[in-house]
Amino acid sequence: MDHFLYRDGALHAEDVPVSEIAAAVGTPFYCYSTATLQRHFRLFDEALDPLDHLVCFAMKANSNQAILRTLAELGAGMDVVSGGEYARAKAAGVPGERIVFSGVGKTAGEMRAALEGGIRQFNVESEPEMEALSAVATSLGVTAPVALRINPDVDARTHAKIATGKSENKFGIPIARAREVYARAAALPGLEVVGVDVHIGSQLTELEPFEMAYRKLAELTEALRADGHDIRRLDLGGGLGIPYTRSNEAPPLPSDYGEMVKRTVGHLGCEVEIEPGRLIAGNAGILVSGVIYVKNGEGRDFLILDAAMNDLIRPSMYDAHHDIVPVIEPAPGVEPSVFDIVGPVCETGDTFARGRSMPPLAPGDLVAFRSAGAYGAVMASEYNTRPLIPEVLVHGDQFAVIRGRPTFDEMISRDNIPEWLS
Ligand code: LLP
Repeated sequence: MDHFLYRDGALHAEDVPVSEIAAAVGTPFYCYSTATLQRHFRLFDEALDPLDHLVCFAMKANSNQAILRTLAELGAGMDVVSGGEYARAKAAGVPGERIVFSGVGKTAGEMRAALEGGIRQFNVESEPEMEALSAVATSLGVTAPVALRINPDVDARTHAKIATGKSENKFGIPIARAREVYARAAALPGLEVVGVDVHIGSQLTELEPFEMAYRKLAELTEALRADGHDIRRLDLGGGLGIPYTRSNEAPPLPSDYGEMVKRTVGHLGCEVEIEPGRLIAGNAGILVSGVIYVKNGEGRDFLILDAAMNDLIRPSMYDAHHDIVPVIEPAPGVEPSVFDIVGPVCETGDTFARGRSMPPLAPGDLVAFRSAGAYGAVMASEYNTRPLIPEVLVHGDQFAVIRGRPTFDEMISRDNIPEWLS
């Protein structure tokens, strides 16, 4: 459920008409709903009760500090994957003891910054990383809390580009070698083994792959405890999928997921961490765009929008489907037309949808891409020297620009022309 609904024939974000925001900030822009973010966070938080747990938002999905602050105020932790994300989480006011650091390629500099600024745990993905972390921690005279990310060799049954739990993927330590690597971790100076971590992929629409992975993790935890490790935390990763269309089968709910977590790992008495990104932010955001032209091509008609692949890359990168709806609800009985919906970028891949049924639209009309709150703005680029688009956060009947649109001058002035060219 989200808070982008039609009222009196006009799409609203909570209590604000979307067209009012468009008039104030111009198109295209991202628009997020506070109530939806809060609702999704609470669904997860409650689903894990009564387990001792922490929901760490995977901020790669949406890292605007206003979003982070909204979630942190509810008690969320953060899952970060870079020094930049760590700095953002801290800047948004998230305490270090609520930040977990994931990722296959943490640099010594990133490790140092996190150890100095405070960190709940590093999810270590390889032996070389483990050694590097040991060296950095030792040089600082501190102890780094670690969980080792285990690759359980489970098929997440999702898009190949976002599946991470098979042995051929670059992520984690093969489960067959886990005990040996834990023994090494325990022997290295500057490290304290606190838990086990797993993340098998994103946009999972069934519970079985999670369940398989978590059962393997539970077995491993018992074996590691028998080996003498004090495993007190389990980080179960993120990955629960969202409905991208109103019509398709709904993925499992956080409550179903929570029950499955309790069923598979509840008996271990560990503190449980989860790292959802998409489910918290995905349906809490829309991308609002204006129609520039309606072009009648040969055998097909094109709706040319002012948003493009650089603003929302998911359709061209993963063939992802986003529902695209008119901001003004069509009158009943209006015959829809079929369009290819495209952006202005000079690539055929800049296509959001083919053969999509839409009400008749004219230049200047607004449309909204649903489910654009996760992996939308964060994956945007300035390709074609198109400025990153504004982000707006709605809260009840208020809205605020939480990232403004840069001017061309601001973009252009970042380039430096070397002296020899003057
Ligand atoms: N934890 C780790 C270690 C991850 O790698 C990810 C996502 C998450 C948590 C959060 O997963 P979520 O709950 O959001 O599914 N750009 C792609 C998605 C990439 C996901 C990468 N890792 C997309 O637009 O579909």
